[in-house]
Amino acid sequence: MCGIVGYLGTRRAYPVLIKGLKRLEYRGYDSAGVALITDRGDLQVYKTKGKVADLEAYASDKDVTGCVGIAHTRWATHGEPNSTNAHPHYSESNNLALIHNGIIENYITLKKQLEEHGVKFRSTTDTEVLVQLIEYMQKSQNVDLLTAVRLSLQRVIGAYAIAILDKSNPGQIIAARKSSPLVVGIGEDEFFLGSDASPIIEYTDKVIYLNDGDIAVIRRNEELEIVDFNNIPLEHEIKTVDLKLGQIEKGGFPHFMLKEIFEQPECLKDCMRGRINVDQTHVKLSAIIDYKDRLLAARRFIIVACGTSWHAGLIGKQLIESICGIPVEVEYASEFRYSNPVITNEDVVIAISQSGETADTLAAIQLAKQKGAFIYGICNAVGSSIARATDTGSYIHVGPEIGVASTKAFTGQVTVLTMLALALAKEKKVISSNQYSMMVNELNAIPDKMEEVLKANDHIRDISRIFTYAHNFLYLGRGFNYPVALEGALKLKEISYIHAEGYPAAEMKHGPIALIDDEMPVVVIATQNVLYDKLMSNIQEIKARRGRVIAIVTEGDTSVKALADEYIELPRTLECLEPLLATIPLQMLAYHIAICKGKDVDQPRNLAKSVTVE
Ligand code: M6R
Repeated sequence: MCGIVGYLGTRRAYPVLIKGLKRLEYRGYDSAGVALITDRGDLQVYKTKGKVADLEAYASDKDVTGCVGIAHTRWATHGEPNSTNAHPHYSESNNLALIHNGIIENYITLKKQLEEHGVKFRSTTDTEVLVQLIEYMQKSQNVDLLTAVRLSLQRVIGAYAIAILDKSNPGQIIAARKSSPLVVGIGEDEFFLGSDASPIIEYTDKVIYLNDGDIAVIRRNEELEIVDFNNIPLEHEIKTVDLKLGQIEKGGFPHFMLKEIFEQPECLKDCMRGRINVDQTHVKLSAIIDYKDRLLAARRFIIVACGTSWHAGLIGKQLIESICGIPVEVEYASEFRYSNPVITNEDVVIAISQSGETADTLAAIQLAKQKGAFIYGICNAVGSSIARATDTGSYIHVGPEIGVASTKAFTGQVTVLTMLALALAKEKKVISSNQYSMMVNELNAIPDKMEEVLKANDHIRDISRIFTYAHNFLYLGRGFNYPVALEGALKLKEISYIHAEGYPAAEMKHGPIALIDDEMPVVVIATQNVLYDKLMSNIQEIKARRGRVIAIVTEGDTSVKALADEYIELPRTLECLEPLLATIPLQMLAYHIAICKGKDVDQPRNLAKSVTVE
């Protein structure tokens, strides 16, 4: 959840670290800090509550010299977000400074033991326990920093990515990971550290993704060394990152979220490139080719995911069940991992995650693996922990998603799930060639239809001005569009802080209808599919209670338009592909309402982009 950056080389470290923190700020933004070994040989820590810009202001009159440093942007878990709890944390002697992403679960026990040895603490964080423990080990065992880190990590229970500086050894950074991502960038006479590759790619495309249990020892003028907790040297593979700077910048848009909404047509083309061949009418997913027998033998699929990815999973269930006839269950990864699920080696678990780092999803995968299931991953972040933990999978290839509210990842996930369903159905020979080619053609046409939907942006901005007053919203949809209603509601609450609920439309009369009055906006996805007449009735029920309807309709519709207060048109498509279009106006509605309310859409309060803690 937090962002880690490190630098050791020949440049000034501070500007590299600040720029890196800005690129990682989506991971957490309640406080920020930097530790530098200055030209005078001091180990200086500057940290403050607030964003990276606040840190820059705070450090503007300080000594920010030096070519070695580590920096952190925080999403608080233990201890309120204030300057004292911000990272880096000094050890008691101020000789060490440490940054940490994750949770030290046994920190209370460790803290008590250290206090019994007279160690004094300054903060209420779990992180400070770790730096104090390392210093205690260094002194009590009379060992070097690497040994002290190894011994300390052997005593720690929890998840971490850490980086540590030692005043007495200014040419060195030690970093380690367990269950939290950490990447080392390798340049000419310089090294970088990042929670992901985004702070690194400006300088080098050569990276090493650390594995759980790796300790990286970065030393000036020496080769990178990676050892395990027992000091056994480990092999490491240098990878080339295929990420362009333009992909992680706003490109003229006021916010990443709006840029990412507008990128969706191109993203879906990237997602389908090389996988859909319309001329020969086929869908090719290498994972299905490589693991055909295992996938076709599946007794059932279980989809595990969180948040928006879970909503995509609900659509995936309908796609796979309706096209392939394979039973699918969809579980919140956080519930699945503690539910003692019945899983056998005939099950295939599909793990969906944009970041590929979500702790609950990773734990669900590990549990399912132990029980013998085959794991198929659908991730965006290449080389992420989930991508590496799965047996096979398909990347969604939509490029880095930086806005905390997930947009293009959702449509990318639904697109991969659609291709997966089609490819499986073809292999199982349960789809007619007519239906197959119709679906392939229509899926291929979705990016152009998305462009049409995006033209409604100004209209949606005008609608959003009317509804900014609302304290509650209801979102209704049925069938394939029910998960779209859930997703629309999630988008709105995340970034505008308006309470919103998504419901299957027919359930309205079993309770939520009581909420409807003339102040209640209800967003209804009422496209012309098999359930159209039913949705018309729902809209009539809402209007009879003077509710205010914003309808998502198929172009050319007249009946719903006549009833609704506001409407947004979508091009016609197959019912099972409607979510790919219907979700876009809901993303835009949430965006514009949040803007009207003056909210920070890219970095909404209390949230972080990747949830690497339970
Ligand atoms: O990276 P993941 O897809 O695993 O993340 C899952 C959720 O944390 C994520 O979708 C979250 O709900 C988003 N903020 C939604 O916009």
